[in-house]
Amino acid sequence: MAILLAMSSYFKGEELLREAKRQGAHVILLTEEKLRHDPWPWEAIDELFLMPNLSNLTDVIHGVAYLARTRKIDRIIPLDEYDVETAAFLREHMRMTGPGLSATKLFRDKLAMRVAIKAAGLPEPQFTPVINHDDVREWTWRVPAPWVLKPRLEAGAMGIKRVPNEGELWQLIEQLGDQQSFRVLEQYVPGDVYHVDAMTVNGETVFATVSRYGRPPLNVSHDGGVFMTYSLPDDHPEAQALIAFNRKVIQALGHTHGPTHAEFIKAHHDGQFNFLEIAARVGGAHIADLIEHTRGINLWGEWARLELMTIRGEAYQLPPIKNLHGALMVCLARQHQPDLSAYDDPEVIWRLDKARHAGLIVASPDAERIAFLRNSYVERFSHDFLAVAPAKDSHTQA
Ligand SMILES: Nc1ncnc2c1ncn2[C@@H]1O[C@H](COP(=O)(O)OP(=O)(O)OP(=O)(O)O)[C@@H](O)[C@H]1O
Ligand SMILES: [Mg+2]
Repeated sequence: MAILLAMSSYFKGEELLREAKRQGAHVILLTEEKLRHDPWPWEAIDELFLMPNLSNLTDVIHGVAYLARTRKIDRIIPLDEYDVETAAFLREHMRMTGPGLSATKLFRDKLAMRVAIKAAGLPEPQFTPVINHDDVREWTWRVPAPWVLKPRLEAGAMGIKRVPNEGELWQLIEQLGDQQSFRVLEQYVPGDVYHVDAMTVNGETVFATVSRYGRPPLNVSHDGGVFMTYSLPDDHPEAQALIAFNRKVIQALGHTHGPTHAEFIKAHHDGQFNFLEIAARVGGAHIADLIEHTRGINLWGEWARLELMTIRGEAYQLPPIKNLHGALMVCLARQHQPDLSAYDDPEVIWRLDKARHAGLIVASPDAERIAFLRNSYVERFSHDFLAVAPAKDSHTQA
């Protein structure tokens, strides 16, 4: 029987666990003590292991190696962005199948991906490492402000600073001290942000779907507001351009297997798409639920299926795909249990069940109906639920 170890420092990926179980795997969940009361799909989990902190690499190596004494683990699957490197480290340590550290770096480290995308000649914002000060200075004289100073290894727009001029830049760099080399400095490219969620099998992208954020994620996380994203139909010219761009990105970064979530900026000044970033995992913030309700496949479940079919030496077949229009919206709520009963149009096909959050998905074959609903619902969410919370500076403060 195949043994799959899923590790996660966040509550997510339930459908991966369920599908792995359906596929006959022995499912081990390794997570953090603080997540033990989250609604994990217990019926799909054969063994649960808890650690105080999955970011303590030495402890995790000891823990997983201890489990491996008496279990032949076939695959280690990281569910959250912050687990991707730990899983890669463990695979290399135990000489297991799956991407190792240098392959994962290109999907985790925002500087590493910038360098690789530039080498492939694909469009992206201009950038510089924050390592040699002469290089940074020379770059600032060449690339007009404003800029963004970003942590190379964070997610959720955490710690990203908009920098208006050289004076403020050097002040920030100074304050960062030993942390400065963990930043990348980029030109701020104002534009609309899109995401492409895809599945790649044996180096070929067999599924990709394009969506567009209502407002750029940085604006939502720094200025507050309702997070919204909506699907683009496959035959939309922007979707076609982005699916092709995404394929080049995946090839350039050498991704061969599994899900990706990539983001692109359509620059306001010339309408061109620029690569923003990519992750080798399923998109967060319930994007997988939006895709499930518009395209008919759950990327978590497909990831489990792909892994288990590969273990069994079977060929992966993509299930039939739907082509509905849809939108997802989520915000922090003022209420402990926000009441969404007034959002009762038949197109509402999913509601978020999470304290202090309001969220829903609408889906329909009718593009105009979805455009109408997403605009009116976002406005109503702002009025009915929206609470404003300050931006987080770093994952460790969470
Ligand atoms: N060079 C840039 N020009 C314009 N906007 C940018 C740039 N870099 C980042 N942003 C804005 O900041 C947001 C977050 O950036 P990025 O995706 O690189 O970081 P992240 O922490 O991985 O975010 P998330 O996990 O939310 O995707 C982007 O969605 C975009 O709105
Ligand atoms: Mg991003």
